Amino acid sequence: MTVIAFTNQKGGCSKSTTSVHFAYWLSQKGHTVCLVDSDAQRSSSIWIECLDNSGIDISVLQSADEVLDRLPEISDKHDYTVVDGPAGLSEVTRAILFRADVSVIPCQPTGVDLRSAADAVKLVRQAQSVRNGPPAAALFLARAVKGTKLKDEAIALLGKSNIPILKTVIHQKQCVADTFGQRGTVWDLSGRAASESAMEFEQLFQELMEVK
Ligand SMILES: Nc1ncnc2c1ncn2[C@@H]1O[C@H](COP(=O)(O)OP(=O)(O)OP(=O)(O)O)[C@@H](O)[C@H]1O
Ligand SMILES: [Mg+2]
Repeated sequence: MTVIAFTNQKGGCSKSTTSVHFAYWLSQKGHTVCLVDSDAQRSSSIWIECLDNSGIDISVLQSADEVLDRLPEISDKHDYTVVDGPAGLSEVTRAILFRADVSVIPCQPTGVDLRSAADAVKLVRQAQSVRNGPPAAALFLARAVKGTKLKDEAIALLGKSNIPILKTVIHQKQCVADTFGQRGTVWDLSGRAASESAMEFEQLFQELMEVK
């Protein structure tokens, strides 16, 4: 019933990684989940297909028309529909934002990414204005490098963007980058780094469930 979309036209900010982990986390909690892959590279749907017995349905919707026409019926059949937005294609992103209940913008704390976060925020604000309210929205920092000044600057800068920034920061870790190749999620990996990342995702998703 609830459509939660990870959108940001900037490539590589962790939309697919977070979508797959969120869809898996929700399914492990016993919810019915569909992952909608809106990216031409199809990385998140291929990734979900590789997970053992996840029970997550997959739908590939790659045009704005498909998103607008098919998302409601998919949403009706599942507790949660998680949409992995595309890089670049703002028309598809716009269509997603016209259908989503919640929009989550992952943002990498680098100069270039922070500048394009403003574009991602603008699309969300436009959708909110047209729809007179929804989607609810939040930003979070993804792939942040521990101890760097950029991370603090990003929090200060994004904090001014009219869209709330989630407290949880997902740090850059090799184990997260490894999950696609390992055909799993951080919850399948052993070691301290994987447990730290698992804890970060858990905290992020709990916060996300409160975005209204
Ligand atoms: N927390 C993290 N630590 C390390 N690597 C990460 C992390 N999150 C994502 N990555 C890696 O960063 C790259 C980009 O991530 P991902 O594909 O999820 O981004 P995306 O926003 O979906 O990109 P695109 O816009 O191209 O679809 C991938 O190689 C992924 O493994
Ligand atoms: Mg992607």
